[in-house]
Amino acid sequence: MIELLRKRRSVRQYTDKPVEKEKRDILSEALLRSPSSRGRNPWEFILVDDRENIAKLAEAKKHGSSFAKDAGLIYVITGDRDMSDMCVEDCSIAAVTLHYTAVSLGLGSCWIQLREREKDERTKSEDYVRRLLGIPDSYLVLAMVAIGYAAETPEPHPDNYLQKHKIRLNRF
Ligand SMILES: Cc1cc2nc3c(=O)[nH]c(=O)nc-3n(C[C@H](O)[C@H](O)[C@H](O)COP(=O)(O)O)c2cc1C
Repeated sequence: MIELLRKRRSVRQYTDKPVEKEKRDILSEALLRSPSSRGRNPWEFILVDDRENIAKLAEAKKHGSSFAKDAGLIYVITGDRDMSDMCVEDCSIAAVTLHYTAVSLGLGSCWIQLREREKDERTKSEDYVRRLLGIPDSYLVLAMVAIGYAAETPEPHPDNYLQKHKIRLNRF
């Protein structure tokens, strides 16, 4: 695990090589193996692999989503707030589990925030994606995770990137 964490970076450029079914299945399994508060699994994950909807999802935000148009696939992470008051935490853990699993499979990936973000002056990113994919209004649309074969290789963060002073011993 630590070796995986050491090389993990967000990847925003992808080749056009499709993600194989075996790897898609493992990514989906990883999501479903995520821990959740009280084991409620309040989430629904939408795997988007058609080019038209991938291109539309890439327009979900003013900044920070356009690169997703070249992703092999996108998982949209949604959750039922009525099912759990820990929905944001549960869905976040699932998204990051997916991100690490992608690295372990030799894939690149990047989290794209949707909650509390805007597509434009009039449209929230969450609402745009909700309408596009038919997600019920009551559902949180937390984020999407773009995944594909990497066309860039960001350097692992060096040791001096780590803010070691942020680990405090016994007291703040
Ligand atoms: C909660 C969260 C939201 C993020 N949202 C975006 C985003 O909308 N667009 C994007 O390109 N990257 C996004 N990222 C990726 C971060 O920009 C990235 O993790 C950070 O710059 C550190 O780089 P690294 O992941 O390569 O270590 C997000 C990451 C997290 C954890």
